[in-house]
Amino acid sequence: MQILNRVAVVTGGASGIGRSIALALAEGGAAGVVVADIDGPGAAKVAAEIEAAGYSALAVPTDVSSEDSVQALVAAAESAYGPIDLYVSNAGIIVAGGVEVPDEAWSRIWAINVQSHVYAARALLPGMLARGGGYLVITASAAGLLTQLGSAPYAVTKHAAVALAEWLSVTYGERGLVVSALCPQAVTSNLAATSRRELGEEALPADIAATGGSAQAAVDGVLEPDEVARVVLAAVQAEQFLILPHPDVATYERRRADDRERWLRGMRRMQVRLSGSA
Ligand SMILES: NC(=O)c1ccc[n+]([C@@H]2O[C@H](COP(=O)([O-])OP(=O)(O)OC[C@H]3O[C@@H](n4cnc5c(N)ncnc54)[C@H](O)[C@@H]3O)[C@@H](O)[C@H]2O)c1
Repeated sequence: MQILNRVAVVTGGASGIGRSIALALAEGGAAGVVVADIDGPGAAKVAAEIEAAGYSALAVPTDVSSEDSVQALVAAAESAYGPIDLYVSNAGIIVAGGVEVPDEAWSRIWAINVQSHVYAARALLPGMLARGGGYLVITASAAGLLTQLGSAPYAVTKHAAVALAEWLSVTYGERGLVVSALCPQAVTSNLAATSRRELGEEALPADIAATGGSAQAAVDGVLEPDEVARVVLAAVQAEQFLILPHPDVATYERRRADDRERWLRGMRRMQVRLSGSA
């Protein structure tokens, strides 16, 4: 899909990857960019930044874990700019820990990292299918293709996000819906701070936060959100399903599929190296 004259919505647009995608879409010629975030003032700031650069933007305070809020976002975007061509469902959080993580935190991360995409698709599909097309980008993570050392809720919810993106593409692709799954490894952002704000003490501890929220950062490097946004825009123009700002992730995914036992042994060794214990 070409970006020129398109109407775009970006959730989690106040910060990090979402902010960079919103700015890049405006620079790419979008007719209007809707910046949605639970951080209303943050969203307003990014919208003002876009407007100051001479483009059109609207900030909409939104909690993507609430279906009513997502419906209101879609309605606000459409009343400002008309039908939405491209919706980047990007807001997300991370929480440290395994099965001991309290149910409240599992529910919250599930709502933000998975149900948000369900609500978006539910709100967008009727219009997009009636118009014969539309584009949904779901920000998952490399954790959604591989795993997330130190965070079961993140690995599980990001796998679910990839599964939903694939399912939507399979089910509606022939009717004009284009779907992409964005699966980066570590990116410089406020993910750890945002998650602590959303979840309190269960969220990722500061030492891992320093690596951008991913213990694998040391292996493949930490990207800047502007670099990720450039990769996303190119992939949207090419209508490519899997968006891998860290290209090595394709190799890891292939190794996992080719020999799951070997991949698991390797990941266990990495877990031991990182945690210093089994
Ligand atoms: N930073 C990384 O290393 C990394 C790697 C892979 C994937 N991701 C994913 O990228 C996405 C963007 O994260 P980021 O790294 O830019 O972090 P970020 O914290 O800088 O940005 C996330 C934004 O989402 C917003 N948000 C959180 N909960 C929300 C809610 N309920 N409703 C609306 N907005 C909400 C936050 O306020 C924040 O502005 C997330 O889905 C994250 O899981 C990040």
